[in-house]
Amino acid sequence: MIRIPFISQPREYAVRPLTQEDSGRLSELHEEDFVRPWSEEEFSSLLLQDPAFGFGAVEIGRRGAPLVGFVLARLAAGEAEILTLAVARSHRRAGIGRQLMDAVLRELHAARAEALFLEVDETNAPAIALYRRLGFRQVGNRPDYYRDALNRPTGALVMRRDLR
Ligand SMILES: CC(C)(COP(=O)(O)OP(=O)(O)OC[C@H]1O[C@@H](n2cnc3c(N)ncnc32)[C@H](O)[C@@H]1OP(=O)(O)O)[C@@H](O)C(=O)NCCC(=O)NCCS
Repeated sequence: MIRIPFISQPREYAVRPLTQEDSGRLSELHEEDFVRPWSEEEFSSLLLQDPAFGFGAVEIGRRGAPLVGFVLARLAAGEAEILTLAVARSHRRAGIGRQLMDAVLRELHAARAEALFLEVDETNAPAIALYRRLGFRQVGNRPDYYRDALNRPTGALVMRRDLR
């Protein structure tokens, strides 16, 4: 018998704009990571608002497969903020977070926005590493901003990325 070695191919992903129909899946992905997950209705009404926009990641070659990550942002008066970002656990460290953030940055450059802000839990080392790599710098901090799974307070870093 000839044995064919199994060679795993690196998975590839594409990003596309989010629509309201994605709301249910966004809520599922959000629930994986956040102590207070946002409901399908909350995502749906956010996506209806004009200043909000976002992108979802799909695995190339898997037609109809659910989104494996997403980012939601908002732009008003030249300044933008990241509302939330999440990648499914089984698809992390494959460059999706970066691809999603790059899509937001491209959109904001096209809109001639001035700066992008975000808040991140000071204990969230993976997210902080991603944002630093993308050129964000810390411009403030908010003590006792979040609660962890045991309801203990944690602080937030406020980060900014200049766009011009
Ligand atoms: C933060 C998060 C979105 C990163 O998504 P991801 O797709 O795994 O990130 P990427 O593969 O694009 O990583 C890009 C870079 O970020 C940094 N990074 C990402 N995860 C990291 C980790 N666990 N440890 C250290 N650095 C990390 C690295 O510099 C990485 O580049 P490298 O892989 O070439 O070293 C993901 O971990 C996640 O969904 N976390 C839970 C939700 C969350 O924290 N959201 C942010 C709220 S503000």
